[in-house]
Amino acid sequence: MTIKRSVFLRNITLGVSASLVLAACGGADTADTAEEATTDEAATTEETVGVLKVATEPAFPPFEFQNDDGELDGFDIDLMTAIGETAGLEVQFESLPFDGIIPALQAGTVDAAISGMTITEERLQTVDFSRPYIKAGLAIAVQADNAEVAGLDDLEDKKIAVQIGTTGADQAAEIPGAEISTFDSAPLALQELANGNVDAVINDAPVTLDAIASGNIDGLKVVGELLTTEFYGIAMPKDSENVEVVNDALMTMMEDGTYAEIYQKWFGEEPPELPESAF
Ligand code: ARG
Repeated sequence: MTIKRSVFLRNITLGVSASLVLAACGGADTADTAEEATTDEAATTEETVGVLKVATEPAFPPFEFQNDDGELDGFDIDLMTAIGETAGLEVQFESLPFDGIIPALQAGTVDAAISGMTITEERLQTVDFSRPYIKAGLAIAVQADNAEVAGLDDLEDKKIAVQIGTTGADQAAEIPGAEISTFDSAPLALQELANGNVDAVINDAPVTLDAIASGNIDGLKVVGELLTTEFYGIAMPKDSENVEVVNDALMTMMEDGTYAEIYQKWFGEEPPELPESAF
């Protein structure tokens, strides 16, 4: 199994290099030198054995965002980091525009993507996904004083803002007569609504609700029922051998409480049951 093999290889390499250094040195500061060499070796070996380059579009709190220290933060970031720890892989995040993520996976410039990305039939034509790790869905947001829009049917011929390349954008495209403006990020679409330039935003409910609750965006409300039920997955290139590695790690974390702990941290409650596959 890939996980076990990489950890095993690393241990072997460490053992060998440490004893070589010990043999070569001798004398009073042997211990220091050996220790230093071991640490260096650990870093190098880990890079060559298992680095996972993971793309994300980090303007989607609480799943991924840049915190006040400028660091990547959020549920997805914690989850992916823990997956790396569980699988014995070093995760390196790379920020990309959301609509550039699938092309990057197809081109093989990244190994995986965690970005609040919904598992869809359409995306499954070009990439593989891990098992579902979050249940979400789309919601309609309007200005808080809007008494006209109560659901999808009221959006005909209206102006709607969405994030480019998202399931929200797909949903908006189906509304008869709607005038759609696309933005590079969900917060920009929500801001456009707050500024009164559009009538509604269609976006992932947890993200819109977080923007309202956190005060990041003022004067908006969510109306109606969720438009969809969606499951997020970690996307990987088609037939990537990492799919099994990531799924095994997720399974371990769902069983040993690590997943529940991360879920609690970000959502303040027990995680719901998730299906093993989205379809
Ligand atoms: N869940 C939606 C989709 O997959 C939106 C995801 C947007 N994610 C992001 N990090 N901006 O299309």
